[in-house]
Amino acid sequence: MTHILLTGGAGYIGSHTALALLRAGYPVISFDNYSNSSTSALERVTQLAAGNITTLSGDIRDEAALREVFRQHKISAVVHFAGLKAVGESTEMPLHYYDNNVAGTVTLCRVMREFNVKKLVFSSSATVYGDAKTVPIAESAPRSATNPYGQSKLMIELILEDLVKAEPDWGITLLRYFNPVGADSSGQIGEDPNGIPNNLMPFIAQVAVGQRPKLSVFGDDYPTHDGTGVRDYIHVSDLAAGHLKALQYLETHQGIEAINLGTGTGYSVLDMVKTFSAINQVAVPYQIAPRRPGDIASCYAKPDKALSLLGWQAEKTLDDMVRDSWRWQSQNPNGYSS
Ligand code: NAD
Ligand code: UD1
Repeated sequence: MTHILLTGGAGYIGSHTALALLRAGYPVISFDNYSNSSTSALERVTQLAAGNITTLSGDIRDEAALREVFRQHKISAVVHFAGLKAVGESTEMPLHYYDNNVAGTVTLCRVMREFNVKKLVFSSSATVYGDAKTVPIAESAPRSATNPYGQSKLMIELILEDLVKAEPDWGITLLRYFNPVGADSSGQIGEDPNGIPNNLMPFIAQVAVGQRPKLSVFGDDYPTHDGTGVRDYIHVSDLAAGHLKALQYLETHQGIEAINLGTGTGYSVLDMVKTFSAINQVAVPYQIAPRRPGDIASCYAKPDKALSLLGWQAEKTLDDMVRDSWRWQSQNPNGYSS
């Protein structure tokens, strides 16, 4: 039996993708060092979906451990989520980010090649577009990075492009996620950030549940419809479905493709706050605060390539996103340690 290997499978997007793969009948192996996740996530996934899942603890930088995984299991493709993702932390610990994200990916690819597994779906990010000159952003837009996290994603994209140039029998998709939010509609799995959330949606949810007094809205003088920052929020279950489509695409395609996973619609910070409050009938107190350094005004995807190449498009609405985020947060006020 062949398996799909998920590096970082216990994390926020990995656990939702594991669930989607199990529901579609794929045997799954997760390989995660639990540096930013809990073993409970995949335990809950196994309660939600019958299926074949093996959960392994290990680090992608540990070449011997990775070899053991490939030796013991027949793996047909890898979905590579494992990585560190906090922008602020990456500026304080650049070597740690480059080692974990970049060196970890090189090690993974070396072991994949050794075992002749050459299908890879990589978690890239809209961060590789830097401060895009125009929106919506197409895959052909220029790439740049403003912090070590973004730089690590960009470096990995370049490394994988060079790999495919040298060895054209690889099949690689670089999935550039826009802003993943929401949770499985069961409310059993979701995003469980360590400490103070960096991202908007988990912060709103923690304010709504009473764990934080109010949201700071970072800037209300951007050139957007209400002055607050605009982003392309995408439901994590839609994102998970996109990985399934990317794996199916790789069954018949070689080479490398970068593909945006976004909805194509931008919402502002205040749109998010107001929709969250209205749909969930809960107060989200907020104050206007100075801009966050490094933030851009507006970022949303041109999602056409995902539709034409993968046959994928986002299906969930903003109402679904805020409803599912709240179900997860209100049922698990302290995340997996609730
Ligand atoms: P997450 O932190 O919840 O998941 C990442 C998982 O990787 C965690 O379970 C962590 O323990 C594991 N991990 C980290 N380093 C590892 C290592 N060296 N070896 C083994 N496991 C390791 O993050 P997420 O939100 O699920 O993101 C998944 C991927 O998608 C990341 O690569 C991230 O950079 C990328 N991404 C995320 C977002 C987002 O907003 N969530 C946006 C764009 C791209
Ligand atoms: C951030 C990261 C980016 C990463 C993305 C998805 C930065 C500078 N960028 O982007 O690299 O790819 O997350 O993980 O960290 N906001 C508030 N108050 C808050 C939090 C956020 O007003 O407490 C605003 C922001 O200013 C922004 C919007 O909400 O306008 C979304 O913020 P966030 O969720 O952090 O995502 P990004 O800024 O897109």
